[in-house]
Amino acid sequence: MVKKILKSVREYKKASILTPVCMLGEVLMEVIIPILMAKLLDSGIETGNLNNILSIGVLLVMCAIFSLCFGMLSGRFASIASNGFAKNLRHDLYYKVQDYSFKNIDKYSTSSIITRLTTDVTNVQNAYQMIIRIAVRAPLMFVFSFLMVFIINKKISIVFLIVVPILFGLLILIAKIAHPYFEKVFKTYDELNNVVKENVGGIRVVKSYVREDYETKKFDKVSNKIYKLFTKAEKIVASNSALMDSAIYTTILLVSYIGARSIVNGNLTTGQLASLFTYSMSILTSLMMVSMIYVMIIISLPSMKRVVELLDENPDIKDSDKVIDIIPNGSIEFKNVDFSYNNDKKKLALNNINIKIKSGETIGIIGSTGSGKSTLVNLIPRLYDPTSGEVLVGGKNVKDYSLYALRNEVSMVLQKNVLFSGTIRDNLCWGDAKASDEEINKACDLACATEFISKFENGLDYYIEQGATNVSGGQKQRLAIARALLKKPKIIIFDDSTSACDTMTDAKIRNNLKTFMPDVTKLIIAQRISSVEDADKVIVIDEGKIVDFDTPEHLMKTSKIYKEINDSQKKGVTLNE
Ligand SMILES: Nc1ncnc2c1ncn2[C@@H]1O[C@H](COP(=O)(O)OP(=O)(O)OP(=O)(O)O)[C@@H](O)[C@H]1O
Ligand SMILES: [Mg+2]
Repeated sequence: MVKKILKSVREYKKASILTPVCMLGEVLMEVIIPILMAKLLDSGIETGNLNNILSIGVLLVMCAIFSLCFGMLSGRFASIASNGFAKNLRHDLYYKVQDYSFKNIDKYSTSSIITRLTTDVTNVQNAYQMIIRIAVRAPLMFVFSFLMVFIINKKISIVFLIVVPILFGLLILIAKIAHPYFEKVFKTYDELNNVVKENVGGIRVVKSYVREDYETKKFDKVSNKIYKLFTKAEKIVASNSALMDSAIYTTILLVSYIGARSIVNGNLTTGQLASLFTYSMSILTSLMMVSMIYVMIIISLPSMKRVVELLDENPDIKDSDKVIDIIPNGSIEFKNVDFSYNNDKKKLALNNINIKIKSGETIGIIGSTGSGKSTLVNLIPRLYDPTSGEVLVGGKNVKDYSLYALRNEVSMVLQKNVLFSGTIRDNLCWGDAKASDEEINKACDLACATEFISKFENGLDYYIEQGATNVSGGQKQRLAIARALLKKPKIIIFDDSTSACDTMTDAKIRNNLKTFMPDVTKLIIAQRISSVEDADKVIVIDEGKIVDFDTPEHLMKTSKIYKEINDSQKKGVTLNE
């Protein structure tokens, strides 16, 4: 897991190595300084030797300057290394997520992906920075200081041999108790992000149903949960400092007692005793640092796991080895296709689908909600792959084409289409980046979008806000259609794409497609029978099965479901009249 994550260090390896190297320099200086201080006290101040005071003083200042420089350099490198590492890690995650199929995305919620890319990466970054700085500093400091204590006075080093293991054990115990709380906190962050995303994303619905209070309560509940868990965890960790204080005072007492006796016996100088105090503090603080790192690692481990999970996720739709780039025509065939969203053969969203569609045909698809219409068409541009069976386009299995070529030739106007912030032109150019104004205008004409675009004061340069809040539902649909047409595909799929347009516009668009794009295969999913009445053939789908597939005229006579839908809609019209 760690190895996988560390792959993202890349060009920041140098800074990552220089950080502990400089840290080593700083630690060495910090270990030398107390010896020099002891010398200054013993052979300078006590004896009144000015020469000694001066020479040791200069050495001391130099050590202090070096220590400062090393410290600054190590801090600088650590920040370059950890920020660079986080940048790369975010890039790698983002890159990976772009490769995900719809199925991969279904597995994680969008909020969870966002938390992983933000909070989790930040946790990993903090842990990394701490490890390359302190995880090196603390053990070094500990070993050197202990060595110095041992050299100066063996008796006092025994104090540490007793105090250190007890303190260390207790510190680790505290961190272990806090661990489950931290783990829960980050899981709850997903929940929080989910609530925020759903609420802010659907703020218009929330307001129109006057559900603000309910939503606020929902948010408060999760927010409170995080507050409680975090406080609990931090309270436990806070006992670290009480423990440290007791350890420090006990050690100082013991060192003073043994030190004073040694001075009386002539085994220790005052300067040495002063340096022993400094080393004692260093030993204890390095222990404290180790326990902090332990906590940090514990906090970041769940984050690390979550990040690696995204990196390890195998995009289940990939280009195959034999990629064909040319799609000969827009014919479509489904051969014994079964599809299940969760690979459960008992819960099939599509069941034994067999159909043949000729290139250039207009095919209507009709069926009740949840019958599997969107699922069926999603298999054509490989937004999902069938669980079993084959989907063929232009006579070849869709898996044999490169995804790029396939998705370029199969243009789809999704049921939930999205426009991005930017001008209308920017959005339409997603269909064809090099489209000329003439081509754009032609596509807009076919999609019946020209009229409303010309009413915007800057026409194609009209700026669409994030979430396309400043265009109407019908306008959005027509822009999405124009965008899909600009691809000049061999197959075009409308998934309920004119539902927000009036029947006149709907008919006009269909007529335009028939007249101006006769060779393109057109699949039209519709709720209204009128939208499929002029199709060459209509697929009637029910509970994931194709129940009828024939011309609309025949279906009126033979298909029970088609007739039922037709009757209910025609009746609806009479009622309204
Ligand atoms: N991403 C998904 N994960 C799991 N199940 C799904 C997913 N999308 C759809 N389903 C399920 O698959 C079945 C078919 O859904 P599908 O979206 O194809 O219906 P539809 O005919 O397009 O309906 P509508 O007319 O409402 O758009 C439904 O039972 C639905 O609950
Ligand atoms: Mg649908």
